[in-house]
Amino acid sequence: MAELLELEFDRLTPEGMAAAPMPETGDRVALAWGVLPGERARVLPMRRQKGALLCRLVELLRASPERVAPREDHYLSCSPWQVTRYGAQVEAKRRVLENLFPSVTLERFVAAETVWGYRNKMEFSFTEHEGRLQLAFHERGHSQRRLPLPEGCQLAGPAMNAAALEAVTWLATRGIRASAVKSLIVRGSRATGRVMVGLYVMDDNFPAGELTLERSAGWAVYYSDPLSPASVETRLLDRRGADHLVERVAGVDLAWPLEGFFQNHAEVFELAVDEIRRRIPETARIVELYSGVGAIGLALCDKAEEILAVESNQAASAWAERNRHAAGAENYHPRAARAELCAEEILLPSDVVVVDPPRTGLHPRLVEALARVRPRRIVYLSCNPANQARDAAMLGAIYRAVTLVGFDFYPQTPHLESLLVLERAAEAE
Ligand SMILES: C[S@@+](CC[C@H](N)C(=O)[O-])C[C@H]1O[C@@H](n2cnc3c(N)ncnc32)[C@H](O)[C@@H]1O
Repeated sequence: MAELLELEFDRLTPEGMAAAPMPETGDRVALAWGVLPGERARVLPMRRQKGALLCRLVELLRASPERVAPREDHYLSCSPWQVTRYGAQVEAKRRVLENLFPSVTLERFVAAETVWGYRNKMEFSFTEHEGRLQLAFHERGHSQRRLPLPEGCQLAGPAMNAAALEAVTWLATRGIRASAVKSLIVRGSRATGRVMVGLYVMDDNFPAGELTLERSAGWAVYYSDPLSPASVETRLLDRRGADHLVERVAGVDLAWPLEGFFQNHAEVFELAVDEIRRRIPETARIVELYSGVGAIGLALCDKAEEILAVESNQAASAWAERNRHAAGAENYHPRAARAELCAEEILLPSDVVVVDPPRTGLHPRLVEALARVRPRRIVYLSCNPANQARDAAMLGAIYRAVTLVGFDFYPQTPHLESLLVLERAAEAE
């Protein structure tokens, strides 16, 4: 049994954990969730990771004035910054961006008005608690341990929680065991208030056709390979009702499916799209890479004669085509392809390029293509500013950063979204 340590935590890591120096042990730092900078805490060492000692909070010995009571017992699993006053969360995120981009002025960091019930996707696991199947989250740092969620989670709105609780009640009433079900994905639309549910089961003989849910506009039941911990759609067992939701962003109706990507905080995402619109000049051609169902590009159709939208997920690209049609956007052209494989062929030096990649950032081949073709402006939205800073540095000889704006798409968590605008430098023309 490891000995408890009493430590002074003095800062946050870029990932959002509190860090305490430990010079006497040779460990560079101790890290813990649920602790704030300026706090003294008793912690239990759990394991080492990249030279740091990962610890679990046992007792708070001196609290920060920024500390607030968490709303939920399970907060460490879903949103470890619940214990931080919202204004201090925003300040901390602002500092993360300033540290990542020391030579760019951060114009502003846009806080969220809705800081609870904002998520439009929740992924629940299951556990058996007090003799009953319940929704659950994995305990942070213990993938095998589950925390029951008798009321759902406050990062989701009431309609999503109600739909999730209805689904787990249906399962529990039929005596379904936790070993038979892997996860429950719930999606919700801010615009319509509708909800969809995806149930991922590990029993091939699951009575999928019997599932009935009144609080969901549609649902799907998937057999999901038990060997994978993820909610993979190995085989569709049954689908009923609506197969998509519609969200309205910047005046555009966007349909997206249960299994597809959609930005998590529609309200703040809309502010980011407005900001992108302001940063895009009227132009002949916009190339949108990592374009999903068209959530950004379809709001830019009045800015260009044509928009080429590249998305690797075939289904998402097909939904973008459908959204384009519904919006009457004749100049928006979705294309199902990998950005790094077609960029060189489609980019022109006169283009404005909008990129919104996954957390990994831009593919190195795409960075190379951008550096060769040199489109005049790159508007880069990112959910992982560390990788965005890496990509911007690789383009640093050709582009200068002209705008940096942060957005809080993820209140109560350390995650943030950042918008960086790069302009081709005059000497690189
Ligand atoms: C962060 S999401 C952004 C989607 C869209 N811009 C939006 O706002 O809804 C990233 C998207 O990139 C797509 N993607 C991932 N790898 C890709 C690649 N190599 N080329 C093109 N698209 C890719 C994903 O399928 C996903 O739709």
